[in-house]
Amino acid sequence: MVQFPKDAHGFNQPIRFEADVYDCEVTGRIPADLAGAYVKVGPMWYFPQMYPDDGAVNGDGYITMFRFKNGVVDFKSRWVRTPRWEDDRNAHRQLYGKYRNPFTDHPSIQAQTIAKPYLRTTANTHTLAHAGKLFAVKEDAHPYLMDPKTLGTIGPWDFNGQYDGQTFSAHNKIDPMSGELLAYGYEATGLCSPDLWVYTMDKGGRIQRRWRIKVPQVSMIHDMAATQKHLIFPFGPYVTSLEWLKAGNPHWGWDETRPSMIGILPRDGDATDVRWFKGKTRAMIHIINANSEGNIVTLYAAHVDGAFAPFNEYFKSVNGTPLTASGALIRKYTFDLSSRSDTYREEVLWETPVQDISRIDTRFMTLPNRYAFTGYHDPARPFDEHRAGNLRGRVSNCYCRFDLETRAVNAYFAGDTHSLGECCFIPRSRKGTSAFAREGNAAESDGYLIGVADNFAEMRSELVIADAMNLEAGDVARVILPFRTTGLHGLWIGDDEVDFG
Ligand SMILES: [Fe+2]
Repeated sequence: MVQFPKDAHGFNQPIRFEADVYDCEVTGRIPADLAGAYVKVGPMWYFPQMYPDDGAVNGDGYITMFRFKNGVVDFKSRWVRTPRWEDDRNAHRQLYGKYRNPFTDHPSIQAQTIAKPYLRTTANTHTLAHAGKLFAVKEDAHPYLMDPKTLGTIGPWDFNGQYDGQTFSAHNKIDPMSGELLAYGYEATGLCSPDLWVYTMDKGGRIQRRWRIKVPQVSMIHDMAATQKHLIFPFGPYVTSLEWLKAGNPHWGWDETRPSMIGILPRDGDATDVRWFKGKTRAMIHIINANSEGNIVTLYAAHVDGAFAPFNEYFKSVNGTPLTASGALIRKYTFDLSSRSDTYREEVLWETPVQDISRIDTRFMTLPNRYAFTGYHDPARPFDEHRAGNLRGRVSNCYCRFDLETRAVNAYFAGDTHSLGECCFIPRSRKGTSAFAREGNAAESDGYLIGVADNFAEMRSELVIADAMNLEAGDVARVILPFRTTGLHGLWIGDDEVDFG
């Protein structure tokens, strides 16, 4: 018998079903030139968590797809059927314990999950499309290969036996110039191991290079940045150890006495060429983009001061102090590689807190770019508390295009009962993944901005589509689902990248 805790209500109530909606309800008009799919993955508990203080990010992987074809949108959702999901289904209960801690698992599976912690993955964090394949990914295991036509789970993918690390990561990068996948896994040789293994795969998915790096401190390297010359690995003072895990804690503790660190690896260098830079203590979770010009490396990211707020409920300080966090601010970090200094310069570009995850026109990944897209809360916009509940100040009611050069803001408002998830940019036209400079391609930020909005009044999810060059104009179209759905990170994947049928 399934009984969820009392705090699993409203939009947090797991829906637990898989859905197919053909020819979705739409307001406005779906642009006929949108051919592809917006595919997201997020956590959702199928069975209630074993421990009441375990967090949502430990939930089962749930993959959703808005499929655009000939001006019509179909919706599909499926569970990512990992060994963990299958074990729980067979047991009619949750057997898996706290976030990335096999020592808290049910005794019937514990010996196996301690020996092979990657079997615990839920593949619930992000999607990835490369070399014609679609994946659901989480940073504790190999990527899960998914059938793009059915969203059925095919299984973990090791790049035809070439990928020898135990872990992949949730946020990898694709070089738009070469089509290479730039990927990595930390704790690559087992729980709490100081091994950061980095790979490049060519556009056909074959591994070309490997770097095996020893990190100065085992920490959460949730995202990376890449330039044409460098790979960049930021992390904050999240710490872990086998002793910490055996004591029954979630995977990460927060040690505010440690600095943040950013490793910079030359793409044409060896693992010993990585340089580690130190900065102010803060969670460094997601990045926006980076570029290299001469000896100067510039990194853009929306980072908080302090710990990462969504984790504060269930990740704790190793020193017993309460975790605090500010809002994420868009920052510019500058590194001078000609200097022997191990520090960097930083500048806040916008004082308004934004969503931790921002997006760019990915044709400019690794290259100088001008615009970041992100969500934020604008208190001047209306919110209908009577219909949507007392969520004032806690919703992302706007998307914006932020100009990294002039700091100008162009904003889209989602509605007075809505909160926006992360956004995604779709170029109006392009020729292949690496074609940003070729004839027939739209200018940077010329295209559509999309994202899923929670409508608290109607208790349903809505996919919003706006003109990225004219966000103030509001919806181009909106896809209305007759239910709530979930999703953490997602991608627009064109028909030229993956065959969705
Ligand atoms: Fe993420």
